[in-house]
Amino acid sequence: TLKVVHTIEDLRDQLRGQLRVSFVPTMGNLHDGHLALMKLARQHGDPVVASIFVNRLQFGPNEDFERYPRTLQNDIEKLERNRDVYVLFAPNENELYPEPQNYRVSPPQELGDILEGEIRPGFFGGVSTVVLKLFACVGPRVAVFGKKDYQQLMVVRNMCRQFQLPVEVLAHETVRAEDGLALSSRNMYLSSDERSEAPQLYAALNDIQQRLVGGQHDLASLEQYTTEFLTRRGWQVDYIAVRRQRDLHKPTLEQIKAGEPLVVLAAAKLGTTRLIDNLELSAT
Ligand code: PAJ
Repeated sequence: TLKVVHTIEDLRDQLRGQLRVSFVPTMGNLHDGHLALMKLARQHGDPVVASIFVNRLQFGPNEDFERYPRTLQNDIEKLERNRDVYVLFAPNENELYPEPQNYRVSPPQELGDILEGEIRPGFFGGVSTVVLKLFACVGPRVAVFGKKDYQQLMVVRNMCRQFQLPVEVLAHETVRAEDGLALSSRNMYLSSDERSEAPQLYAALNDIQQRLVGGQHDLASLEQYTTEFLTRRGWQVDYIAVRRQRDLHKPTLEQIKAGEPLVVLAAAKLGTTRLIDNLELSAT
């Protein structure tokens, strides 16, 4: 049965002597995307620890920290039914941030301050800092992250590599609704009209993939065309960007033609709800 712990001390008591802990950090309001990560975690390590912590550090002053959905009882029931997770670590703010967090992880600008990090200053510093702290509490050998948050996955991977953290980072594919919309805790903010429009974001990414495969290599006009398409349909686009998978930098024309692995990343708002998505492209 699921053990729910709220303190670092109780967490360590539960995990004493375990040599291959696998870990899935979340902010809760669990959906099938989160649960899929936990299933993958179970295939690579044992026991599986999940965490639920809405991390203030990664929210900007005008973001939804206060109204982010907190549904702990529901989440616990899902984890109990699911049976992949052995320990749920759900600390309160005082447990994880008992004093002001003045030591921070600062990701390199060329990764942390582009795309999502440009729109949300400090976001990846906040994510990296809490992930490092959670790793210190849990002591995992394996940790699973979703490709839905593509840049986050890369920031965490690079942090682990550069700090020699003894954690293997595994990526899970983005889990989608039938109509293509990537599952997200923020989807519940969508009105029913917005929910019907939302799959157009993923459709637009697939459209870019088609055009690229069809030989359209002018990325700036591809991005602009797609931005205008979504804007006409009522979206406020933060970015649509075709980048190299390895570092999220812009590919040169030569690299595109040589089959450099690419990914198209997007963030856009419908009403007040901000959605992100991405698609790895098989070009050439
Ligand atoms: P959260 O948004 O709750 O996501 C937790 C994990 O689930 C992340 O690795 C995210 O990429 C993954 N995930 C979310 N939706 C997914 C989907 N549709 N398919 C596949 N994976 C999905 O990401 C965070 O929390 C936080 O930034 C965190 C890493 C916990 C640090 O606070």
